[in-house]
Amino acid sequence: MLIHSATQLLTLSGGPQRGGALGSLGIIENGAVLVRDEKIVSVGRTDELRAAYPGEPGLDATGCMVMPGFVDPHTHVIWGGDRAREFEMRLEGAKYLDILAAGGGIISTVRATRTASIEALIAQTRPRLLRMFATGTTTAEAKSGYGLQTATELRLLKALLALDDEGPMDLAITFLGAHAIAPEYTLAGGGQDDPQGYTDLVCETMLPIVRQWWETHAPRLPLPFVDVFCENKAFTLEQSRQVLTVACSLGFPVKIHADEFDNLGGASMAVELGAASADHLVKTSDADIAALGKSDTVAVSLPCTPFGLAEPEYTPAQKILDADGILALATDCNPGTAWNESMQFVIALACRYMGLTPAQAIAASTINSAHAIRRADKIGSLEEGKQADLLVMSVPDYRHLGYRFGTNLVKQVIKRGRVYSVDVGYYRTA
Ligand code: NIG
Ligand code: FE
Repeated sequence: MLIHSATQLLTLSGGPQRGGALGSLGIIENGAVLVRDEKIVSVGRTDELRAAYPGEPGLDATGCMVMPGFVDPHTHVIWGGDRAREFEMRLEGAKYLDILAAGGGIISTVRATRTASIEALIAQTRPRLLRMFATGTTTAEAKSGYGLQTATELRLLKALLALDDEGPMDLAITFLGAHAIAPEYTLAGGGQDDPQGYTDLVCETMLPIVRQWWETHAPRLPLPFVDVFCENKAFTLEQSRQVLTVACSLGFPVKIHADEFDNLGGASMAVELGAASADHLVKTSDADIAALGKSDTVAVSLPCTPFGLAEPEYTPAQKILDADGILALATDCNPGTAWNESMQFVIALACRYMGLTPAQAIAASTINSAHAIRRADKIGSLEEGKQADLLVMSVPDYRHLGYRFGTNLVKQVIKRGRVYSVDVGYYRTA
């Protein structure tokens, strides 16, 4: 299939974009892409590709911008229940971490998730994934973390594997057993106040079990990422180090939640441990930013989170770029701080509150976000040999991304070479 006549074709070629290089879109005017068997065979000008592949069935992208599918590298997309009442409480003045410390927040979602069957969890998560897909996300990272006990965490991983298998979106799965201190280990949850006890359980019991379980349930897939919420009222820097060090010793690739509310030094530690990414990065210190800038650990910013919490502070993107960091964007889709599935909305926020240009935000949502889940060799750009994950956007110019918000600008999603037409939130096979 030849996708042709795109007003602008954004290739994002050349690998992850560091520091000041962020925003190189690699635009081909009147562009075309030849796709065969799930892969990109050739990228170039429409006249050249038409001449080289006469008679190839066509998909006309006249008047449209064509680009790689979005890669969303940080989501908590699987959970039970909702937190609409907590949203209202926060509007009435309650603070997010205080609600958590009082046994609500993440823990209220944990309660709803523990009582949900795997069928119910899959049924509730599927429409969220389809909303992501319809708004242009072709690969998403997805974390467990609302179980906080071995059996439920494994149920979440099993459900995520089933959803990945079902498609059309690809998932990069993360084990986040260290998302909060389990209620059994807190006074508010009715247990002993023993955060270290829960940290030891994650390290000594859960991580080895997850590794063994993964090898029997997903033998063909690489091990999932392991993540930890390094934050006051969650895991201290030392506890986070313990979790990630054990994870690394078992062969897991790692990530971290750092500096969402307080600067504990998690980003520098993530760099030291060779983490794929450090995420949130709102209160990050200059020393942590400098460490990120010298590393291959991707700085993942989640602007829906301060927006969702109505907090004024966002990731200091310009400082990260000045330090030569690799910046990426993600939704953080979760029931507490940011229930939003759309990377288009993330881009609109990043342009306004982080000072990114549309070109920078697009690169941060494709090639750089692919690198944050260590898949930049397969996805995130339109280059020969890569997976054919593309978007036909119903706009003539890439700057409409960011400029426009709150509506879906995707016309067609092409996933592994298959065309899905989007009609305002619905999709069907072409
Ligand atoms: O990334 N920070 C921890 N995890 C999520 C929030 C999860 C929740 O509130 O349920 C986040 O913001
Ligand atoms: Fe998160």
